[in-house]
Amino acid sequence: MRLNSPRMNVIYNACMKASKSMIRDFGEIEKLQISAKGPGDFVTNADKRSEKIIIEELLKAHPDYGILSEETGEINKNNKEKRWIIDPIDGTMNFLKGVPHFAISIAYEENGEVVCGLVFDPIKDELFVAEKGNGAFLNNSRIRVTNKKKLFESYLATGGPKFNSKHKNKIFDEYVKISNIVNAPVRKFGCASLDLAYVACGRFDGSWQWELSYWDVAASIIIVKEAGGYVDFLDLQAKESVKRNIIATNSAIHDELKNNILKNIIE
Ligand code: IPD
Ligand code: CA
Ligand code: CA
Repeated sequence: MRLNSPRMNVIYNACMKASKSMIRDFGEIEKLQISAKGPGDFVTNADKRSEKIIIEELLKAHPDYGILSEETGEINKNNKEKRWIIDPIDGTMNFLKGVPHFAISIAYEENGEVVCGLVFDPIKDELFVAEKGNGAFLNNSRIRVTNKKKLFESYLATGGPKFNSKHKNKIFDEYVKISNIVNAPVRKFGCASLDLAYVACGRFDGSWQWELSYWDVAASIIIVKEAGGYVDFLDLQAKESVKRNIIATNSAIHDELKNNILKNIIE
């Protein structure tokens, strides 16, 4: 890994340990897909196993730091200054269906600002890391966003809607509508942390999604920023910590994409 501050090392070790169990579990999925019971409970347990390993490692290094993690919720709630943000498996539906596109996401935040983070795709063995002021990397290479300026030449990613979303129809319609309006392909790959990491390394030019949770994207936010991209939110009124509707781009197409989304959806 090209970044080796003490915090990055802690995150990295926790992630690598969890990824071993995750790769083993993913290997079982295919068999479970065809079993009568299906892989549902197994995946829930894989998620919990991964989270347990990560939390144990992080607490071993810093027993007093706060933690916000998808399955467990909050630990050391009162420590708002130093906090880890964890999504043990982002892209659970892909994992469940045996689609090799999911990630572990871990970020470290100080006083509400993410200062370093990692997104790891254990199947493709792609490690995205970034640290404030020290750049963003994919494995050992420095990454940068694209410099595409024309929205119609760009490649975009989005996700959702969630099954239980109150705005399900609206979000689904938007996906089709925006693709038509901006005249660019919009894809859904089912893993928000990787959507953003792919913006950071130039595979996508931009990505947006409604109704995410902070743990889905906390690490990716610093990765995009350190790669020269721009991260912003579509819920203009909400406080930073509760903003859930994210847009991340290569900067150049940002305003045009954001304006099109807001113009067409928030009415
Ligand atoms: C989900 C993934 C997915 C996004 C959903 C998230 P999970 O996270 O990031 O891409 O569309 O909104 O909830 O449940 O797989 O950790
Ligand atoms: Ca997630
Ligand atoms: Ca998850």
